[in-house]
Amino acid sequence: MDLFSSLDAEPARKRIDELTQLVDRYNHEYYMNDTSLVSDYEFDALLRELQELERQYPELAQPNSPTKRVGGEVNKTFRQVTHRFPMLSLGNTYSMEEIAEFESRTRRLLEGTAFSYTCELKYDGVAIGLTYKHGQLVQAVTRGNGTVGDDITANARTIPTVPLRLRGDYPDDFEVRGEVVYPFEAFEAMNRRREAEGDAPFANPRNAASGSLKLQDSRECARRRLEFCMYFMMLPPGTALPSGSPLLSHYGRLQAARDMGFRVQPHIRECAGMEEIKAYIDYWDKERWNLPYGIDGIVIKVNQTSLWDSLGMTAKSPRWAIAYKFKAARVATPLEHVSFQVGRTGVVTPVANMQPVWLGGTTVRRATLNNADFIEKMDICEGDTLWVEKGGEIIPKVVGVDLSRRLPGAQPVAYARCCPECGTPLVRSEGESGYYCPNQDGCPPQIVGRLEHFVSRKAMNIDTLGHERLEMLYRAGLVCDAADLFDLRREQLIGLGSEEGSAIQERGADNILAALEEARRVPFDRVLFALGIRYVGEVGAKKLARYFHTVDALMQAGVDELAQVEDVGEKTAVTVYDYFAVDAHRRLVERLRAAGLQMRLEERLLSDVLGGKTFVVSGVFEHYSRDEIKQSVEAHGGKLASSISGKTDYLLAGERMGPEKRRKAEKLGVPVIDESTYRSMIGDETA
Ligand code: IVH
Repeated sequence: MDLFSSLDAEPARKRIDELTQLVDRYNHEYYMNDTSLVSDYEFDALLRELQELERQYPELAQPNSPTKRVGGEVNKTFRQVTHRFPMLSLGNTYSMEEIAEFESRTRRLLEGTAFSYTCELKYDGVAIGLTYKHGQLVQAVTRGNGTVGDDITANARTIPTVPLRLRGDYPDDFEVRGEVVYPFEAFEAMNRRREAEGDAPFANPRNAASGSLKLQDSRECARRRLEFCMYFMMLPPGTALPSGSPLLSHYGRLQAARDMGFRVQPHIRECAGMEEIKAYIDYWDKERWNLPYGIDGIVIKVNQTSLWDSLGMTAKSPRWAIAYKFKAARVATPLEHVSFQVGRTGVVTPVANMQPVWLGGTTVRRATLNNADFIEKMDICEGDTLWVEKGGEIIPKVVGVDLSRRLPGAQPVAYARCCPECGTPLVRSEGESGYYCPNQDGCPPQIVGRLEHFVSRKAMNIDTLGHERLEMLYRAGLVCDAADLFDLRREQLIGLGSEEGSAIQERGADNILAALEEARRVPFDRVLFALGIRYVGEVGAKKLARYFHTVDALMQAGVDELAQVEDVGEKTAVTVYDYFAVDAHRRLVERLRAAGLQMRLEERLLSDVLGGKTFVVSGVFEHYSRDEIKQSVEAHGGKLASSISGKTDYLLAGERMGPEKRRKAEKLGVPVIDESTYRSMIGDETA
């Protein structure tokens, strides 16, 4: 049903304006004031109505429509933009004495002038600058090298605390700067989601925020729940401000920014001198752990903006501000015992179990000891007292041993000889830093871990089976390997439950069976990846599938032939060969084949115009994402290589390709073609 098909342009324009204002207002109240003025249901209905109208009347859609918050624009490239004013960094120090020196130097330089400082949090995120013209967001740029950054406007628009249009009074043309942070809760939720989907988790919120701003798909950026913490308002030089204007002080500018619709953190304080500055720093050094996002220090600025010019600059940073950086929180606590954890590939990780200790806002009991090399390098003995540190990264780290408290005659920590889960003697391969349990087919965490990998998104994508359900199926004796999944019957599933999770109902059982049915259509390369052969990742599986076409050919291949496959090195060739040399693995393949899984590659060639020519693809493209252009090369009969060699036929160069690649291609006489030449080669000249 098309509700709006009869709407003329004029009523549509009015309704679009009305909806835009309503949704903007509800968003503002929700994100800035924590107030829901309407139910989620009503809000979604309004947003959908607006989306639908914009779809029908694209010419009436506004660039800063609240519908942009949900993303949808694809960033093929990130245009490089020169900052109107360089994005400076700050002088920083870990020493309170140096802060006192900064304070007394500033006082000396400003002698006879009344002034104050502001103290505020130093957000641990990614700096961006937002330009507003006539109250509309027109551009968002990353800091880059301080002079030139990347245009990330489409992604910035999806951050709820980046206002798309301003409210009240605002300068006509100005820039605000701030930090995009990943609040801990949203960060952890995203990492859990990534792990469930078979993606590697991000190491810390800062890296994740930075990666999110560079996502090609702005819809994914919208899902990430980033936040923008505004810390700076720049006015064009020469802006005349009447005396008494709030914009004459940094503090006043941030308050004014709040009225314009920015989320300004409430923790900024005006301070008269060193005593108050120190009290502020001391307070936040303890209190920082209770914030919902990470901070790594405190920024102290001279509050009166008219004094900034007279204080001037050092080489890179202004003399009117300084950053105090927090040291990582550190405590010493006795080691009680070392336990050992077994992962899905059998790798055994040692874990320090320590006397519980309060550190950076939480009680710490356990921390990883990484591997045998780490224990050796740190020289950890039984009964030692360990130094544990917590930086901005949440996860506590063991950083050393307090040797002054070592017990006489203490013995080095003994590494487990046998697997703690199945008792099999552990093995240490040459050149590896840790031990692993070789009992792949009898060790419970390895079995369940392999099943988890098998169902993960990039493998068979059976999302109705998560860790908990797989463990349940294993414990119930119903599933030991991937092929067992396809023998499951409805009546076996219904009622299956565990203490932690609720039992599977009829609908749940049907959903599982439907997802297993769907898995029968998953292409062979992903089935191969799903088997979880050591070192065979997503790309390796694709290359092997394309080379051998069928599982039978692959199972018959010798190490030499396997090693000939592009990007499959000697190490992988050996593990693939060893894998198929095991009878149980060959039987597993047969059972999966009998269950109806794809064991040969379905060729979906669009043409063969590239006739086996080898392409190296580099840079960014206008009409394709990197993956799309690679798929296109293969779909037209071309082959891909990752580095340029004498065997390369073409270097397909997008924008921002590194100069090294071009030089190498020229040296080897490899033709360099651009995107439009490529498109005419494959006969795709549509705009
Ligand atoms: S003021 C010219 N205030 O820390 C002054 N910076 O080197 C510009 N940062 O790159 C910076 N929180 O990205 C300022 N409250 C805050 C900040 C802050 C984080 C970042 C900023 C800058 C770096 C300092």
